Amino acid sequence: MSSPATIADEDGRPASPRLELDTTELRKLDRNVVWHAFSQMSNYDGLIIDSAKGCWLTDIDGNRYFDGASSLWCNIHGHRHPHIDQAIRDQLDRVAHVTNLGMSHPITISLAKRLVDLAPSSLEHVFFSSDGASSVEVAMKLAFQYWRQCSMPEPKRTTFLALGSAYHGDTLGTVSVGGVSRFHSLFEPLLFPVLRGPCPDSYRLPAGIELEQAADFYLIEYRRLLEKHADEIIAVIVEPIVQGAAGMVMHPQGFLCGLASLCRDFGCLLIADEIAVGMGRTGKMFACEHESVEPDFLCIGKGLTGGYLPMSATLTSHRIWQAFLGSHEESRSFLHGHTYGGNPLSAAAALATLDIFEMERTLDKLPTKAALLRNGLDSLRSHAEVGDVRQCGLIAAIELVSDKALKTPLPWQNQRASQVCNQVLKKGVWLRPIGNVIPIIPPLSATETELEMLVESIEFGLS
Ligand SMILES: Cc1ncc(COP(=O)(O)O)c(C=O)c1O
Repeated sequence: MSSPATIADEDGRPASPRLELDTTELRKLDRNVVWHAFSQMSNYDGLIIDSAKGCWLTDIDGNRYFDGASSLWCNIHGHRHPHIDQAIRDQLDRVAHVTNLGMSHPITISLAKRLVDLAPSSLEHVFFSSDGASSVEVAMKLAFQYWRQCSMPEPKRTTFLALGSAYHGDTLGTVSVGGVSRFHSLFEPLLFPVLRGPCPDSYRLPAGIELEQAADFYLIEYRRLLEKHADEIIAVIVEPIVQGAAGMVMHPQGFLCGLASLCRDFGCLLIADEIAVGMGRTGKMFACEHESVEPDFLCIGKGLTGGYLPMSATLTSHRIWQAFLGSHEESRSFLHGHTYGGNPLSAAAALATLDIFEMERTLDKLPTKAALLRNGLDSLRSHAEVGDVRQCGLIAAIELVSDKALKTPLPWQNQRASQVCNQVLKKGVWLRPIGNVIPIIPPLSATETELEMLVESIEFGLS
């Protein structure tokens, strides 16, 4: 049944007042004109969200859904948080955009200072971009240029060492360092070669290796690669602690600090891609803090603006910064930039997001919430198809398998995880599967009651 999209939102306001299209027309246009990311458009049937508040999304028919994927892992303090809303409105009354090519704005400068104060102490400079992939590309290009301009140049360094099943974004540079074959293999002819180590997986351990030995096992392989190629490697690039798009693969404890120490031993730079795991997701503001790692580059995005506006940042050290200083004739500048890098509206949202971390003691409250989620999800382990339940902070995932003992992955083609998520949707919870893995990534502001409801809904979806 077609109906005008005029249902009221939580505050009693009519939905999207500017909409003249009825819900049937909207669905038709959304299927036939809008090209959705990571979606098969021949049978596309996604929700159309009209408004949101807290952890809840309301669609154009007035149905409410708990945002169990944090709007693709970026919402932190809930939707329409009054403090972020006000910060954006206040900024809008001053100026919406100021280019960062030769100009700046106080709010962007304040954000840079605040990020530097929060990040590991050696990171003292901030390059702003608009999305996660760009911030990783910035780190990669800065690292490449660094070796050509540092006091003892090493121009033979032309390759990156990346992890198995890595995901760093969808631009060609980040796809080159990526290693999820389902997403990346088609583009192989367009990519530059990289060195690749194993994926340090805590669930599918190598034969004969116990979890406690796993970090060392994987690090031996990384040491071997570094020994052989140290003088060719620009940087090692890693998603610290959890590899998101690989299916929330959790690294064995000690892998990250072991990798950082190998980088130091072999004189390579370390790029930490915290687009997915940064901004409190894992229980610390930055995932590198779990193992006291200070990378040469720290890439953050997604939750940086609380999930409100596009903004990402590449933080780096004074050592890297200095290699780019010089006279105009020396041409040492970083000739790279994004139109909206450092955008003041985004910066206002980011500063407000950081304020809320303090005002609401978000990280102090996280262990209790994480424990509650862990206990709830643990009860799902006995389900016949659940091969693994894994979690770090408020990143959790359930992996469905066809044989629990052998950990045989269900073929992604059979879309079992999608079926489960469709069932969960009937209970009013939105989750977005990756192959046969169901990521569970609620906003950090989710209440204990909401987390209990989330687990109950997943249980229903699996039954
Ligand atoms: C680890 C990681 N790096 C980079 C990206 C790319 O970020 P964006 O989609 O904002 O370009 C993502 C996105 O999911 C990610 O998970």
